[in-house]
Amino acid sequence: MGAPEILSSRGGSLPGFIHARELSIGYGKPLMENLDFTIGKGEVFLILGGSGTGKSTLLKTLFGRLAPLAGSVEIAGVGDPARLQGHRPRFGVSFQGGALFGSLTIAQNVALPLEQWTSLDARTIAGIVDGKLRLVGLEGAGDRLPSELSGGMQKRAGIARALALENDLLFLDEPSAGLDPITSSELDDLLIALNRSLGLTLVIVTHELESIFKIGTRAILLDRKTRGIVADGDPRVLRDESFDPRVRAFFHRESVSGRREAQTDSVQGELLSSTPRPQPAEEPFTKDLPPIVREDPFRGEYL
Ligand SMILES: Nc1ncnc2c1ncn2[C@@H]1O[C@H](COP(=O)(O)OP(=O)(O)OP(=O)(O)O)[C@@H](O)[C@H]1O
Ligand SMILES: [Mg+2]
Repeated sequence: MGAPEILSSRGGSLPGFIHARELSIGYGKPLMENLDFTIGKGEVFLILGGSGTGKSTLLKTLFGRLAPLAGSVEIAGVGDPARLQGHRPRFGVSFQGGALFGSLTIAQNVALPLEQWTSLDARTIAGIVDGKLRLVGLEGAGDRLPSELSGGMQKRAGIARALALENDLLFLDEPSAGLDPITSSELDDLLIALNRSLGLTLVIVTHELESIFKIGTRAILLDRKTRGIVADGDPRVLRDESFDPRVRAFFHRESVSGRREAQTDSVQGELLSSTPRPQPAEEPFTKDLPPIVREDPFRGEYL
């Protein structure tokens, strides 16, 4: 596997915050091997690649839900994130499928991490929950069930819950998947605001080109064939300056041979099939709720 094309500084002048070293990921058989990268504190770091390349798998490995097949992940101040299992989470996670508890109100969903991990009284928790809901533009919606919210509002609620414990690191898997362009753009604005105003480090899996160029200052592109990173840099620079056919294929939605595709979704070549697959349900779906709402028996899932 060749070295990834690097068209801008990796992590810039930001201090290293997350280190992936010789990291191999997968489920028995490796999907990606020997990944080496550092994520800077305060960075908006994007994980890109075609559907099924292992983006969600990489994210889960980075936050310690999944053990690496080889190599290591280190988060500053945390060490190996897998060690956090059973301890107060030091970062928030927003999952590809949403993972809100369908039988709880939005306010109850956001309160969960505070109830589980702090000894704050109910009144204080209610105040924090109100603040988080306001932060994501959901003031007044706390009493509703997830099924009573639009898809965009559910995403915001998931982010409010991920922010509940005041952590300065968030992992987000396809935050704008399934949203219309305007709602998706508003969600991008929220993420940019969280990064700029609170200094949050954001590690985001996404395939939406508009989001990629709007929010990302740093991106890695995963390639299934070489099981590695084929590009690392500012996504705008990668789009404009890369001659690597795999990079061009992703950013220009061309086929790997260079021909521009008429439709972004009916494409040849793995990098082009970037629309996320329907997620296999890790947890049983609740039938009468929209697919984003899951009953999730893994209580650490909201982290
Ligand atoms: N729990 C699991 N056990 C075994 N294989 C899995 C598991 N989860 C995912 N996979 C497989 O690993 C590969 C990568 O999956 P992953 O969900 O990481 O891809 P992805 O890049 O996030 O795709 P998408 O863009 O569709 O969300 C796929 O072939 C998938 O079927
Ligand atoms: Mg995924």
